Amino acid sequence: MNLKQKYGEWALVCGATDGIGKAFAEYFAANGLSVVLVGRRAEKLQALAEELEQGYGVKSMAVPQDLTADSASENLIKATESLDIGILNYVATFHKMGRYSHAAYPDIQKIIDININTYAKLLHHFTALFAARDRGAVVTMTSLTAVTASPYNAAYGAAKAFQLILTEGVAREFHDADVDILVITAGSTQTPDWFRNQPQGDIDNSQAMTPQEVVEEGMGMLGKANSYIVGRINQDAYKKYTAEMTRDEAAALMGSYFEEEYRDK
Ligand SMILES: NC(=O)c1ccc[n+]([C@@H]2O[C@H](COP(=O)([O-])OP(=O)(O)OC[C@H]3O[C@@H](n4cnc5c(N)ncnc54)[C@H](OP(=O)(O)O)[C@@H]3O)[C@@H](O)[C@H]2O)c1
Repeated sequence: MNLKQKYGEWALVCGATDGIGKAFAEYFAANGLSVVLVGRRAEKLQALAEELEQGYGVKSMAVPQDLTADSASENLIKATESLDIGILNYVATFHKMGRYSHAAYPDIQKIIDININTYAKLLHHFTALFAARDRGAVVTMTSLTAVTASPYNAAYGAAKAFQLILTEGVAREFHDADVDILVITAGSTQTPDWFRNQPQGDIDNSQAMTPQEVVEEGMGMLGKANSYIVGRINQDAYKKYTAEMTRDEAAALMGSYFEEEYRDK
């Protein structure tokens, strides 16, 4: 599929500095799309912008922006208003492991701001724009943590559930339009965030996908599905959590992975 012809010239990649978002930015540039790169670390974003321009001959624009800020969505809408944005790609996230009751509330607020508020506003703006021109795509990320309760990561799991259910609902509203909306559910993926949050000790990443695998497999479903779980291991886990366990059993299993490390944090 020619992404540029089908959707528009630019992809707006929110959370492009690292991890899965960086892999998306590379994928879009390799497929001829110009990219707006959003994250907080200005220098890294600028370096990536130059690398993608030189490597793929596309245009790029680094937009440093904290996506937990109240003004984030308005700033991005303004920064991109003169561009032909064809794809909204919302990948950024924030979470902090630990007991909900022990967390500093401002951290919980940040989880809600980046995963719910800013995403919901950008999704609203860009789906309205895409509907008006009957062209465009949204690709966002959620997590297996959205499927069950996520003890010691509870607010994050709930916020990812919001992203999942909101996107699936909006996607269906576009089923007879030339606007493709896809929410990708990933499990363990070898990103800086994932490595940071593993319980201490030897990290076994043999079961974790790479960001590039997540993006390749996920993007292969754009236009074919609205909601897709990447990786056989994650598809099997989803079946197990939803078909073979009660919700309490699934919550207990999820909690057991992190209880020792985070019970007192
Ligand atoms: N890794 C996994 O195992 C896994 C599993 C399931 C689902 N997912 C989902 O996949 C997506 C990507 O996760 P990841 O593991 O790649 O994350 P990551 O490695 O932590 O990267 C997060 C990205 O978001 C940006 N970001 C973080 N906080 C931000 C903020 N306040 N404002 C603007 N940008 C911010 C970071 O750039 P800056 O630091 O420059 O801001 C970075 O580019 C998320 O939606 C996550 O829920 C990941």
